[in-house]
Amino acid sequence: MGEINVALIGYAFMGRAHSNAYRQVGPIFEPRLRPRMKVLCGRNQGAVQQAADRLGWEEVATDWREVVARKDIDLVDVSTPGDSHAEIAIAAAKAGKAVLCEKPLANTVKDAQAMLKAVEKAGVIHMLCHNYRRIPAVMLARQLIQDGKLGRIFHYRGTYLQDWIVDPKFPLVWRLRKETAGSGALGDLASHSIDLARFLVGEITEVTGALETFIKTRPLPGKPKSRGRVTVDDASAAVVRFANGALGTIEATRMAPGRKNFNRFEINGSKGSLAFDLERLNELQVYYLSDPPSQQGFRTILATEPAHHPYVKPWWPPGHALGYEHTFVHTIYDLLEAIADGKQTWPNFRDGVENQRVLEAMEKASRTRRWASV
Ligand SMILES: NC(=O)c1ccc[n+]([C@@H]2O[C@H](COP(=O)([O-])OP(=O)(O)OC[C@H]3O[C@@H](n4cnc5c(N)ncnc54)[C@H](O)[C@@H]3O)[C@@H](O)[C@H]2O)c1
Repeated sequence: MGEINVALIGYAFMGRAHSNAYRQVGPIFEPRLRPRMKVLCGRNQGAVQQAADRLGWEEVATDWREVVARKDIDLVDVSTPGDSHAEIAIAAAKAGKAVLCEKPLANTVKDAQAMLKAVEKAGVIHMLCHNYRRIPAVMLARQLIQDGKLGRIFHYRGTYLQDWIVDPKFPLVWRLRKETAGSGALGDLASHSIDLARFLVGEITEVTGALETFIKTRPLPGKPKSRGRVTVDDASAAVVRFANGALGTIEATRMAPGRKNFNRFEINGSKGSLAFDLERLNELQVYYLSDPPSQQGFRTILATEPAHHPYVKPWWPPGHALGYEHTFVHTIYDLLEAIADGKQTWPNFRDGVENQRVLEAMEKASRTRRWASV
């Protein structure tokens, strides 16, 4: 059993989710390479030390440049906001490290392409953290589509709805600034729907749609009496065409009261339909036209069978449900195995570039009020 030394840049939301995955993946999945949680990097010494103590990292650093230059680091995990992804990932690749990067890959297609070029030139393993692919029910959906159970695909209907910025008093955090986040609900949420669309149905070739910012200014963080301009979308809605002829809609918003993490897709084909909702992530809804007419209706498959559903076996017996955190464990397990095999995994930086192209086309379509090719 080998070991690989990991450096994680960023220790807040995704930093916690990834740390949890590095801690769990060894004992549960027994990968050939065990991750050693070597360095946690942030910008504030006191805060990063506290986080390292809580999350289980051996050392801390406050400059990512020093971290990626260290000879003893094998894998660099980029869990910072989008504006720093390109610089960190490219430096890590040049230093010969494997790279895991949070989504969206970058804030622009240009940066995403530079990142892809850097990892390909360095010949390192690269992965993009679209963790929702590795939910057993989503993997089952893909299997059913590939096996032809849905026939010809007509529709992909992706909606990703949250409600955490509905309050106009919610401050102007980095996610609401174009210079840090690149875009709003679009890059944050629609990027996941686009990834699932590409994973399940295929490439998107053309888009049209609109972005909207409902609340134009917000209080500055820590200065509630001063306001700043929101420079990203609150919501996006798009119609998309796929290379295989399917037609889709992709809607993302953080302004849908009551919807917490409502990442849902429905796919309709000539032989049936399927539907998935992240808030009920152990379940897949399936409808087959081939069922006897008197018994037709959506059925619910509980995708927790260790013998039949991917990733379930090392966890628990049937029906002992999985949750959000498991999606990161599965992602990191496959990354470690890819590094052990020296073989590229998915989704990777190439998927990140394709995803970014769709995001940029959606922005263009909204700006020009026309269709935009991807
Ligand atoms: N896969 C998913 O489902 C998912 C979910 C949420 C966020 N994300 C993505 O993860 C990334 C981070 O988002 P988050 O929610 O964790 O944000 P966050 O604000 O919770 O955390 C960002 C972290 O980055 C650190 N950071 C920022 N600039 C840095 C720098 N120059 N050097 C070192 N550290 C720096 C901050 O101190 C903080 O620890 C984003 O790209 C986001 O889109 C992915």
